Amino acid sequence: MSRRRVAYYYDPDVGAYTFGYNQYLKPHRVKMTHDLVSSYGMIDKMHVLRPARSSAETMTRFHTDEYVQFLSKVTPETCAKLTFNNTRFLIGEDNPAFEGLFEFSSISAGGSINAAQRINSGAADIAINWAGGLHHAKKSEASGFCYINDIVLGILELLRDVPRVLYIDIDCHHGDGVEEAFYTTDRVMTCSFHKYGLFFPGSGTQEDRGHGKGRGYAVNVPLKDGITDEAYKSVFEPVISKILEVYRPSAVVLQCGADSLAGDKLGCFNLTMHGHAHCVQFLRKQNIPLILLGGGGYTVKNTARAWTYETACALGIEDTIDPLLPYSEYFDWFGPRFRLEVVSSNMDDLNVKDGSLDAVRVQALEHLSELIPAPSVGMQETPRESLAKHLRRGLDCGEARDDLDVQLAQHLKYVSTLPGSDPPSEDSDNESDSEEENSSTLRRKKRAMSIITNQYLEPPPMPNARRKFFHSGMDLDEYFRVEMEKEDVLRFASQDQMLSV
Ligand code: FE2
Repeated sequence: MSRRRVAYYYDPDVGAYTFGYNQYLKPHRVKMTHDLVSSYGMIDKMHVLRPARSSAETMTRFHTDEYVQFLSKVTPETCAKLTFNNTRFLIGEDNPAFEGLFEFSSISAGGSINAAQRINSGAADIAINWAGGLHHAKKSEASGFCYINDIVLGILELLRDVPRVLYIDIDCHHGDGVEEAFYTTDRVMTCSFHKYGLFFPGSGTQEDRGHGKGRGYAVNVPLKDGITDEAYKSVFEPVISKILEVYRPSAVVLQCGADSLAGDKLGCFNLTMHGHAHCVQFLRKQNIPLILLGGGGYTVKNTARAWTYETACALGIEDTIDPLLPYSEYFDWFGPRFRLEVVSSNMDDLNVKDGSLDAVRVQALEHLSELIPAPSVGMQETPRESLAKHLRRGLDCGEARDDLDVQLAQHLKYVSTLPGSDPPSEDSDNESDSEEENSSTLRRKKRAMSIITNQYLEPPPMPNARRKFFHSGMDLDEYFRVEMEKEDVLRFASQDQMLSV
């Protein structure tokens, strides 16, 4: 098997963050993976790099300023106040405001952006960031344990240099955040294989195919419980082969969410480690620059096993590594078998039982055959500095910021009139973009679901207080300071009362 230059991004601090007691997503799994990767001696076979942490400004390439500023300020103590009782930014209980949230997000995002830069520079054939893959995060809202969408930021970085990017998502949950971000463009094709049907996030049918210029460039493969290696391969290979043939991507980003493995705490598929890793092996064979990212994976030891094995697949040494685990810091976690394996269970494969898998495959291939091969894009020179620097203004003081707002508004007005950037008009869609479809999309967006319970969340009652900091020009720092002062006054008043009693 031919050699590939592999860049592996890892920040030793990432395992120290915790979402809190009893939370499903454990950043510690990335540290466990790294420990196993090191114990297998893979470190010497690739470029191991510590990613530069993403700045808040870089995050705003996709996320809104208000949301990023909120994430940089929020603490467990101030969360209820700053989200107006979880009605904004962090909805429901899936996304706690844990200590170090912003730093964790900046590590995750920094790794994916650096991976994209490495691919763009031509210095690597495959770049890995197991701390990334947080595919549910939206422009101004956290979702499904994801706060900052490192994948979107990484793909935006790739698009500086390449015309077309293929995003593939093998997490058990639909890659909704990435799909939504690129729903109206043909420069990114998204393809998600996921469980569909009363399952978080509740989206991803085969009729969700993109909009406007992006029509046909969102592919969804909805699956049912218990899919096995063989069945998964029977849909993954033909669909991805067809996409590669028709779309001819310049780079591929593979989200390797490990909650599609058998025995996952939140997932419901029945893939073995080898079945999961087959997707990596299949893409490596295509000789297209590849980025491997993490994602879900809630049975920690199996997630670490799979990502370790997939690192070996990236290096092309999977056939040479010992299935008996070497001694490592977390060796005890892998008992009683201490093997590099995730085995399947005896659950039924509902996809094969009712024949729905064949229908899904046929429909996906039919949709893909309607596409124009390799859509061409007009590449433009992209400024390497931030927009603020590009406009030669700082973001430091209030007055400059107001001024910058005006300039940005003018700039965006200009950008929106450039050819090819028209918003999709009603008649730009074909007939199958029915009203029913659009209304179902809207309905879906309005009703959030919990990744833990897979139940729709009832929208909380709107608070009486006015959400002032969403008004243009409102400074969140100032809002934050005033609210904290009010709290201090109340606390001192109650202390005085107690003393007088
Ligand atoms: Fe997931």
